[in-house]
Amino acid sequence: MRQSSLVVVANRLPLDDNAAPDGACEWRRSPGGLASALHAILQSTPATWVGWGGGTGDAPDMPDIGRLRIRPIALSQAELAGYYEGFANSTLWPLYHDAVEQPVFDRGWWETYRAVNRRFAEAAAAVAEPRAAVWVQDYHLQLVPAMLRELRPDLLIGFFLHVPFPPPELFMQLPRRVELLRGMLGADLVGFQRPQAAHNVAQLATKLLGAAATDDQIVLPTPGGDRVVRTGAFPVSIDVAEMSALAARPDVMNHARQLRTDLGQPKRVLLSVDRLDYTKGIEHRLTAYSELLRDGRVKVRDTVMVQVAVPSRERVESYQTLRDRIEGEVGRINGEYGRVGEPAIHYLNQSFDRADLAALYQTADVMVVTPLRDGMNLVAKEFVAARADGTGALVLSEFAGAAAEFENAFLVNPHDVDGLKATLLEAMDARPGDLANRMGSMRDHLNRHDIVRWARDYLATLDHSGRIVELIPRPRTPSVPVPLV
Ligand code: G6P
Repeated sequence: MRQSSLVVVANRLPLDDNAAPDGACEWRRSPGGLASALHAILQSTPATWVGWGGGTGDAPDMPDIGRLRIRPIALSQAELAGYYEGFANSTLWPLYHDAVEQPVFDRGWWETYRAVNRRFAEAAAAVAEPRAAVWVQDYHLQLVPAMLRELRPDLLIGFFLHVPFPPPELFMQLPRRVELLRGMLGADLVGFQRPQAAHNVAQLATKLLGAAATDDQIVLPTPGGDRVVRTGAFPVSIDVAEMSALAARPDVMNHARQLRTDLGQPKRVLLSVDRLDYTKGIEHRLTAYSELLRDGRVKVRDTVMVQVAVPSRERVESYQTLRDRIEGEVGRINGEYGRVGEPAIHYLNQSFDRADLAALYQTADVMVVTPLRDGMNLVAKEFVAARADGTGALVLSEFAGAAAEFENAFLVNPHDVDGLKATLLEAMDARPGDLANRMGSMRDHLNRHDIVRWARDYLATLDHSGRIVELIPRPRTPSVPVPLV
């Protein structure tokens, strides 16, 4: 088996097995921020990506992507149900997002989660060169770092959590809290989106594992002596150059103009793009918007709202009921406030390709990103990357990781419906000069903090020798004009 000096382990592969209209198998880019973000940097890196290909049964044969080798992991139906839909997405996901939906503690899921984590660890161990760096991603694989350390003590092991790490009082609810904490702390470096997460983990490590912990280092007592685990915040980002280039493409700009015509040339377009997930605050947003319509503060003829809700985790019950509730509410709002040929809300329960998203971002006057809790939210960053002309307003939840970087967005507490209504109106009525200042400072920040910088910062901290970070191409400087394709 061919081995690499950098191995990435993530639940999803960057490509998804997707049935083409003629029934043939075709590969398409995976949904979700993590896969998009990593895909951007790794396609020109001689690394191996270990992950699940999206289906069940035997692992498919998958093509390499540029210099990146793909090593698919097979999951059975029962494993998909216990590991992915169960423990990862019905226990950890809601608990890590402030328990905005009740976490389910099903004792049957744990063994499957552990067995699948072991399979990922064994696959990574098999493709890692001696002294390679293995970079494990996200809550699906929280036991992998410790398992890998047992299998291959020679490796440098990194772990990055893309979602929030909850406050100790929530984490303490987990029946398997000690194993989960130990699993993650099997890494040499544990990275988070926000410093608060490292603080939470330090408190838990002290309480549950008897460690001596600060916000950037945990000294773990082990039978072989103390082991030091470093921790820190590394806010993830996007491929800024890719989104800027897409948004500047003449066909995308034409498409954006056409969309505006198709929407009836309203005075203002509000846009939201989310995976259809209860953490995204879609219902709170619909409540606020429908009250603005009811109060006469927003008129259907002038203003259009577009809500893209990308299908996600559709076999999980809480996602099915959420979809029913949202679709009921959109139907109610359109029934009450829409006119013939002029719905109040354009609701699209579909995936969009990157070029279509870029066109939507260009069309929007106000981008509304109001999750109840979100590790980062890369949609907010994509919108900013797409707005080179400095127009457009970003309404952003205080509870998205991105709020720490975009202080000049219209920040809002999405639980406060009156505050949300007021902020939407403020953003809709803002002066162009104010918007240009806000957008300019957000773009400056984003240009200096793109996905390549994130990966290089993380890997340089993991491996002080500089051997691994050199595998990642240096950032493209934003001052270079992006060629029109
Ligand atoms: C979040 C998670 C990712 C996940 C993505 C899409 O961003 O942090 O790990 O890939 O959602 O969810 P899915 O369940 O489709 O992979």
